[in-house]
Order: sequence, then structure tokens, then C-alpha cells
Amino acid sequence: MYQDELLNWGVAQLRDLPWRRTRDPWAVLVSEVMLQQTQVERVIPRWLALLEAFPTPAACAAAPLGDVLRLWQGLGYPRRARNLHAAAQSITELGGFPTSLDGLLALAGVGAYTARAVLAFAFEADAAVVDTNIARVFARFAGERLTAKQVQAAADAALPHGEAWAWNQCLMDLGAVLCRPLGPRCDECPLRPGCAWNGGRDERVDPAIGSAGVSGRQSRFEGSDRQGRGRLIKALGLAPVHGGDLSVAMGWPGQYERATRVAATLVADRLVVRAADVYRLP
Ligand code: ADE
Repeated sequence: MYQDELLNWGVAQLRDLPWRRTRDPWAVLVSEVMLQQTQVERVIPRWLALLEAFPTPAACAAAPLGDVLRLWQGLGYPRRARNLHAAAQSITELGGFPTSLDGLLALAGVGAYTARAVLAFAFEADAAVVDTNIARVFARFAGERLTAKQVQAAADAALPHGEAWAWNQCLMDLGAVLCRPLGPRCDECPLRPGCAWNGGRDERVDPAIGSAGVSGRQSRFEGSDRQGRGRLIKALGLAPVHGGDLSVAMGWPGQYERATRVAATLVADRLVVRAADVYRLP
């Protein structure tokens, strides 16, 4: 898959992102967990703040989950913060960062993607990362929808030995900058000569649509339960909230039934604790 072409294109213009300047596995893990569902520009200040507060897994493990949730403000999908906190506790108990794929996969919230990202970006080990951008690149290059196994196999086969750090970062940037979901910039793409889809010049349907690992759009946030969950966590970051005040804290004044039901999902997720009708961060 045009290894030299992609590396030449990518290395020259790799975006200068702060997590690309470190090989500290904790810092890399935090960046990858944040980047799973949140855009780069939103992640940068949160990544800096979280690492300043918790420079090591041990520092994070020693803090209450509520402190991690406060630092997670604005990133959304707070179960990631809970998993990161649990992972920090496991790493601390282990007495060191896992360095094998299986060891990483055993950490809370760490799946095939995140485990390989830590291997490639912290340890510079030969691991092929497949995130939504990379899955889209491979499906388009192959010209067909791929199964999860097929994308990982294609990524494994394409990986240039000893170049995993640069290769995966370049593929990510190719997906983010050129091989975009809508309006791909094929004219500038170093993979164009070998790409089966080639921007759909034959009016062919984008093979990335519905391909494994390629995410669709996030569901609407405005007015959603997710928005109310975020508002409640934010309010609880300042002070506990009484059951009767939930609906106001969640931005749904008067909708007591909905507020109570959605707050219960946060309790079930162990992101909020409830005692005697008072809600607080754990
Ligand atoms: N998205 C996920 N991981 C990333 C990384 N290392 N750089 C840029 N975007 C990313």
C-alpha cells in the first residue's frame, strides 16, 4: 500500500499535536481515550489539564473518581473517565505499565484500538492501529466494505516494519485531512494511484459507508438525555444536588420524571452516587 508515498506525504506535514511529542504510555493512553469520541481541538486543553493534575497513573488512582470527572468536563461520554480511573488503579497495582497487547487489553476501557495505539505511539512497537479514520481509508482503498477482521488484516499487512509510530500517525492524518468522510481531497492523496474507490469518480457508493469500524454520525446532542447527563455531572462538580432539584440542574425544569430516570442511569453507571435522595460525585 504505497508505504513510501504515504510516509513521505505524512511525515512532512504531520500535525503538531502535543501527544505526538511524548512516548510516556500514560500520557498516550489518556490522549487516545479522549480522542476516541472527541475532536482534537477539544481534547488538547483537557489532555494538558488532566496530565498536570495526574502526571502518573498512581496520581490518578489515588484521586476520587469525582476529580477525574471534573477534569473531563466538556469531553462527553464520561464512562471513559471512569474506565481511565479504573485503568490507572490496575496499572498502579501491577507496579508498571503493561507492555503486551494482552496486558493492555485487560485494562478497563481499553479495546483493540486503544491497546494498539499505546503499543505503536508509546512503545513504538509494530502494531497496526484501526480507528474510524483508518478504517475508512482501508475500505476506500480496497473499494469495498470490509469486516472488522478484514480491516485489521489489511492494516497489519500494510504496516511497514519498524515504522509503526509514523505510519499510524500518517494514516490518521490522511483520514482526517484528505480522506475525509465527506468531500475527500483525492487530488492531493498519495494513495490515489492504487485506490479502488478514488473519490467515487464512477459514481460508486462510498465503500466506507457501513464498513466495520467506520462510525456514523454521533447522535444529536441538543435536547438529548446525554446533554442532561452532562449538565448534572457539571452541577455535581460544584455541589451535591437534592432529588427535587435534579430537573433544574439538568436543564429540564418541571420534568421530574425524566430527570429522575436519567439521573438513575448515571447512578447505574457508577458516575454518580445517591444517598438519602442526595446526588453527588463519587
Ligand atoms: N485520533 C486518535 N488518535 C490520534 C492521534 N494520535 N493523533 C491525532 N488524532 C488522533
